[in-house]
Amino acid sequence: MNVFNTVKDLKNHISSLKKDASIGFVPTMGALHEGHLSLIKKAKAENDYVAVSIFVNPTQFDNTEDLIKYPQTLEKDLELLKSVACDLVFAPNASEIYKNNIQATSFDFGGIENEMEGKFRKGHFDGVGTIVKKLFEIVNPTKAYFGEKDFQQLQIIKKLIEIEKMPIEIIGCPIFRENDGLAMSSRNTRLTKEQREAAPFIYKILKKAKKKFGTKNADEVTKWVTKKFKKHPVLDLEYFIIADENSLKKSNKKENNKPQRAFIAVYAGDIRLIDNLAL
Ligand code: PAJ
Repeated sequence: MNVFNTVKDLKNHISSLKKDASIGFVPTMGALHEGHLSLIKKAKAENDYVAVSIFVNPTQFDNTEDLIKYPQTLEKDLELLKSVACDLVFAPNASEIYKNNIQATSFDFGGIENEMEGKFRKGHFDGVGTIVKKLFEIVNPTKAYFGEKDFQQLQIIKKLIEIEKMPIEIIGCPIFRENDGLAMSSRNTRLTKEQREAAPFIYKILKKAKKKFGTKNADEVTKWVTKKFKKHPVLDLEYFIIADENSLKKSNKKENNKPQRAFIAVYAGDIRLIDNLAL
């Protein structure tokens, strides 16, 4: 496994690979878990080489505290990456990527950037677009893998390559969960014992909401979810929404030929957890 910290070294190495080799790319912010590894294994199976980036991207954090507290476990990450036979790792520091101008470019993703996460995390998707575009330009992958855990991000990236006319295939991968249903996330390691025990409630509610959406409309289901969280002693609901998978706009009722999904963001103390479920 080759580990690079500079753009120059990584690019030199990539240009020395055999011509026409396919590269599967998995961008991450590190603190790797089984969810990340599932993307990497898929990329490994479908390409000649797998490249993984580890970079906690400052421009996508709207909350400084969240950035400062974001878990960083590089040594352990590298061990995990070796265990899944990752070929290339790119782990730059912020000045390698942004020089001395840590700022996001502003994108027009056709409106999907203003829904859900975009509403509650101002500028988040400009930061994501900025870093992923830069990484795509550096790595020049054949395919890139993103988790449905961040479903809105996956849709944003599909839009990004369309806007930027980048010849990269974007592959969405299913959400990897703990045995109790909690969606795996790097932030889960920050949960206290009490918060960790409470957190599987999020997925339980999503599953119940899915059942209810058969007979009740979206507003009724949303009201029911809101009520459930009001009574919860540990978790605070930020939003719950049933939306069209493509426009990400709020749905009112079940539509048979349009894919719909329930999306949720919840706080456990200062730790923000997101999840979603296809309906
Ligand atoms: P990060 O949160 O580290 O996630 C990296 C990739 O792993 C994302 O595509 C994310 O959706 C996926 N992922 C995380 N948890 C998952 C789970 N439980 N199941 C399946 N996939 C999961 O997302 C980012 O980093 C950043 O925004 C990034 C794209 C790297 C840009 O900075």
